[in-house]
Amino acid sequence: MLDRVKEIYQEIEQFEVQTKDQLELFRLRFVAKKGAVAELFEKLKTVPQEDRRAVGQELNSLKDFAQQRFTDYKALVEENSGGHAGPVPDLTLPVVPNQTGALHPLSIVRQQIITIFGRIGFSVSDGPEIETDWYNFGALNFPDNHPARDMQDTFFVQTNPDVLLRTHTSNVQVRLMERQKPPLRAIMPGRVYRNEAISARAHCLFHQVEGLYVDRNVGFRDLKDTLYHFVKEMFGKDTKIRFRPSFFPFTEPSAEIDISCLICKGAGCNVCKQTGWVEIAGSGMVDPNVLSNCGIDPKEFTGFAFGMGIERIAMLKYEIRDLRLFTENDVRFLRQFEGA
Ligand code: DAH
Repeated sequence: MLDRVKEIYQEIEQFEVQTKDQLELFRLRFVAKKGAVAELFEKLKTVPQEDRRAVGQELNSLKDFAQQRFTDYKALVEENSGGHAGPVPDLTLPVVPNQTGALHPLSIVRQQIITIFGRIGFSVSDGPEIETDWYNFGALNFPDNHPARDMQDTFFVQTNPDVLLRTHTSNVQVRLMERQKPPLRAIMPGRVYRNEAISARAHCLFHQVEGLYVDRNVGFRDLKDTLYHFVKEMFGKDTKIRFRPSFFPFTEPSAEIDISCLICKGAGCNVCKQTGWVEIAGSGMVDPNVLSNCGIDPKEFTGFAFGMGIERIAMLKYEIRDLRLFTENDVRFLRQFEGA
């Protein structure tokens, strides 16, 4: 009997437990009601009376030993598998690098724009992408049937010509001014739609950020100051900026904003069409008619507004030469922004 006890000690010592299955085998073999140890307890009856006490003590120690081993192995298996069964990992294997994923470049740039303007007190506002004629055009001083509407090829909702996909984020200006009274300082990022054939330089879907600042005594120099600040923060302090007279129905005076081409540093390349300058935004002083349309008294308040394309800014920043890359979801393109 005592020999058998010794054998079982040895067996327990040699039993390998690394996986959940092996743990179960161990349990069945030594700890279970019909296991080897229990079997010996059964046989205790056959041991002569005078030895029974000593053998009984041996068996109790064996049982404790098996139980303790079982508890230890159980903890080990659980730890190794994070609660699941599986082989113990080989810590000497080379690591497999984790794919961390990446923000889309448009999200990165959008967030940078929000941060830069946020630091000088601009909040973020939002508005609908399906819009009525009034908010997209009428309130912004586009007269009915005026050729200025042709500047932006529009998708109309067929069943109702009064409803369209917004062609710019300027609709949010109107909604904001209707809702809140000055002082107003907000940027409005969002998706816009135009009925354009898709090419490297044009798309039917793109993104803009609108900006609006309305208060007493806001002047053109405030517009210039704000956009100078933005351009230096976004593209670096050596970037040059120029304002070019332009026309928009909703601003007077109006200006388009160019920056020195970041790709050729002003020397001339195909991105800047050899001019050394690239347009990044439209802007101007909010037309008094627009303020009145939104219930703000133009005699008391003035304001400036601007609108820029997020794709354009991302293209300049990351030297992307084809607009279509933004919507193709090619992982070879997207992975380049990991950690950006
Ligand atoms: N909405 C214009 C466009 O999409 C851009 C723009 C120009 C917005 C001048 C403005 C602005 O707020 O003042 O072409």
